Amino acid sequence: FEGCGLKATAHSTVFCDGNPKARVMLVGEAPGRDEDRQGRPFVGRSGQLLDRMFAAIGLSRSEDDAEKAIYICNILPWRPPGKRNPSTEEIALGLPFLLRHIELQKPQIIVALGGVSSKQLLDTSTGIMRTRGRWADIAFGERTIPVLPMFHPAYLLRQPAQKRYAWADLQSLRTRIEAL
Ligand code: URA
Repeated sequence: FEGCGLKATAHSTVFCDGNPKARVMLVGEAPGRDEDRQGRPFVGRSGQLLDRMFAAIGLSRSEDDAEKAIYICNILPWRPPGKRNPSTEEIALGLPFLLRHIELQKPQIIVALGGVSSKQLLDTSTGIMRTRGRWADIAFGERTIPVLPMFHPAYLLRQPAQKRYAWADLQSLRTRIEAL
């Protein structure tokens, strides 16, 4: 796909990581510098926090057992240059690819990490401060997929006091997984 200018400035196409059979799919925003260099999502500081957060409820991207595994991707597979946020147009271009990605991976639960991801997946303009922790259903063909919006780990690194909300959301995720 050559229709998105971000591809020209990025070093890698950061497609996914984790176990494709996982029941839980995490959707972040866009790769950062470390992810662009390594070609894998969430490998920088926020990725390390993400791994610790999900390990706390027994989930890991390197797990072979689908029930304990996670699968990780982003709204956009290319790093926006510098530290800028992706534009509305860039996000819109990424959406059909993300939807197809979800169709192929068939998650039973989606975790939307941060405001950009949550707004896209829930098709809402309401920010993450109000949506986090509230399960929503997205209609997907014949299926409905539960989506849990959570704070982005990069935000938690800047605002550690908010980690208690992330912990509450992880517990809620754990409960939902146990009910699958
Ligand atoms: N932030 C994201 O949203 N995704 C990544 O892959 C890395 C950082």
